[in-house]
Amino acid sequence: MAAATTLRLNGVEVGVTADVSTPLLYVLTDELQLLGPRFGCGLAQCGSCSVLVDGVETRSCVTPLSAVAGKQITTLEGLPMLYAQSKGLQSPPAYTPLQQALIDTQAIQCGYCSNGLQIKATELLMLNANPSEQEIRTAMNGHLCRCGTYPKILEAIQLAASTIRGEA
Ligand code: FES
Ligand code: FES
Repeated sequence: MAAATTLRLNGVEVGVTADVSTPLLYVLTDELQLLGPRFGCGLAQCGSCSVLVDGVETRSCVTPLSAVAGKQITTLEGLPMLYAQSKGLQSPPAYTPLQQALIDTQAIQCGYCSNGLQIKATELLMLNANPSEQEIRTAMNGHLCRCGTYPKILEAIQLAASTIRGEA
């Protein structure tokens, strides 16, 4: 079937055939076989499906394909490239400072929330590389971690911010 919609996904143009009413999450996971965005609640409540659309965290489970045509979509897979672009690096790092901080702090347990928290924290850190604890808590408020690793996630975001500022 000929591609019906062209997406600007992680820096490349990709044609997809799904109906334009299809939630973006299903296009990313079912048609494009991406493993980053995840189905959690399907109701815009948990954040596990989040992607960046023109730099803004967006719940892909409730976002129809028609709403993102022509916009820049970044999934978990594209975060190192996005970081490289934001910093003027020649090539993407293996891990962004946030991803390295999540590893170093051992913040991730089951991983259910890790996609969404990385997307949201990336949005935050691109807007503000020196967020206060309250600003981090407010930004991350809509991302559910059923393992309850919130203190470690906070620590990781603070560590990543320090790295981005060149202090860690
Ligand atoms: S699956 Fe989209 S917010 Fe939960
Ligand atoms: S690490 Fe398990 S849901 Fe957050």
